[in-house]
Amino acid sequence: MTRRSCWSPSSFAWGRLPRRRLVRLGARLSVLAVVALATVGCLIPPEAKPAAPAGGRRLDDSQLRPLRDAAAPTKRHVGCAVQPAQLHDDAFRRLAATHFDSLTPENQMKWETIEPQPGQFAFQAAEPLVTFAAENHMRVRGHALVSHSQLAPWVKSRSGEALHAAMLGHIQGVVGHWKGKVAQWDVVNEALADGPSGRLRADSPFTALGPTFIDDAFRAAHAVDPEAQLFYNDYEIEGVGTPKSDAAFALVKRLKETGVPIHGVGLQMHVDPRHWPAAGRIQANIARFAALGVLVELTEMDVAVGEISGSIDQKLDRQRVLTHDIVAACLALEACSGITFWGLTDRYSWLNSPRWGALRGQLPHYPLPFDADYRAKPMVAGILDALAGR
Ligand code: G3I
Repeated sequence: MTRRSCWSPSSFAWGRLPRRRLVRLGARLSVLAVVALATVGCLIPPEAKPAAPAGGRRLDDSQLRPLRDAAAPTKRHVGCAVQPAQLHDDAFRRLAATHFDSLTPENQMKWETIEPQPGQFAFQAAEPLVTFAAENHMRVRGHALVSHSQLAPWVKSRSGEALHAAMLGHIQGVVGHWKGKVAQWDVVNEALADGPSGRLRADSPFTALGPTFIDDAFRAAHAVDPEAQLFYNDYEIEGVGTPKSDAAFALVKRLKETGVPIHGVGLQMHVDPRHWPAAGRIQANIARFAALGVLVELTEMDVAVGEISGSIDQKLDRQRVLTHDIVAACLALEACSGITFWGLTDRYSWLNSPRWGALRGQLPHYPLPFDADYRAKPMVAGILDALAGR
């Protein structure tokens, strides 16, 4: 993979300029640089700061094959979450388009961004991602219509009928805008509480509407775009044998049994190697959802290695094995139709921020298939092996 070449100050003939002109030139150049960086969106938010340089083994070109080509015979999508500013980097664009055939906007289709004021939609934030996906024959997974997090503040001050109407209006506006362009929607995201209660989460305003807000959200999305595949998406529901995963299963079962147009369940798969279900329990979970007649997608996969003991090579090798086994669990069941990574390169990950990364223990986590310099990590070999049935 070729990298962008950078102009270097040492390559300029500084010695030929008088000192005063040099200082003025330097000041102008710094202003220009800041403006240019801001313009192209390179002022990287804290959660997207590059991970510290990692050692560890990398794949050479003979071991590398585009992931989307390797996945094609399996009829699975292989996707990544992207933020628009990242697309200003040609090498990033090439990496995304070469390896992935599905794209999820990481934050730009969330309510706070897309309907910041009642009825005022701001679709432009996500448009570059939808355009990039179309140009590169990538499917778009829309994320996420109704969620407790990254909600516009005005929504939180509503309740009852006004909140219900706001939810329906939001779904109609957003799904309608991208009708035919977004193949899958996470219609309801993270409605379930953490822990063993099996209830809806207490910190979401939608919970007060009662559980049928979920039914209404799916029906509204389906009415606007009957072709779109509609998903319930959540975390820590990946393996059988936990109250939260059982609650997700009970929820999807109820929706199916009552004729609600739900087509799939998204297992986020933010892997915490300190306590994560074995691949067999993940496969059993996919199987029980499949038996309900819904698709399953791994929608936000990353594998944090900060707490794995040993050298960097040992950490990355464990990451390879964990990833291989999870991808293989998906491939074992036809209903598991896609695997999306929550990013593609360790350069940009929500887990690089101290705030989010601490949820997985000691940073750095190097959670994604390609390193911060866009070189393929052993994790890519794990994905390729699983796709090839090895
Ligand atoms: O929008 C502000 C911006 O105005 C400000 O300049 C910047 C600087 O701090 O922060 C921006 O907000 C950040 C936002 O992402 C957009 O980049 C927040 O600080 C940051 O906390 C937020 O994090 C996102 C997180 O969801 C919020 O819950 C992550 O990028 C995103 O990867 C993450 O994604 C979620 C999925 O939607 C659902 N599943 C879990 C997954 C990981 O948490």
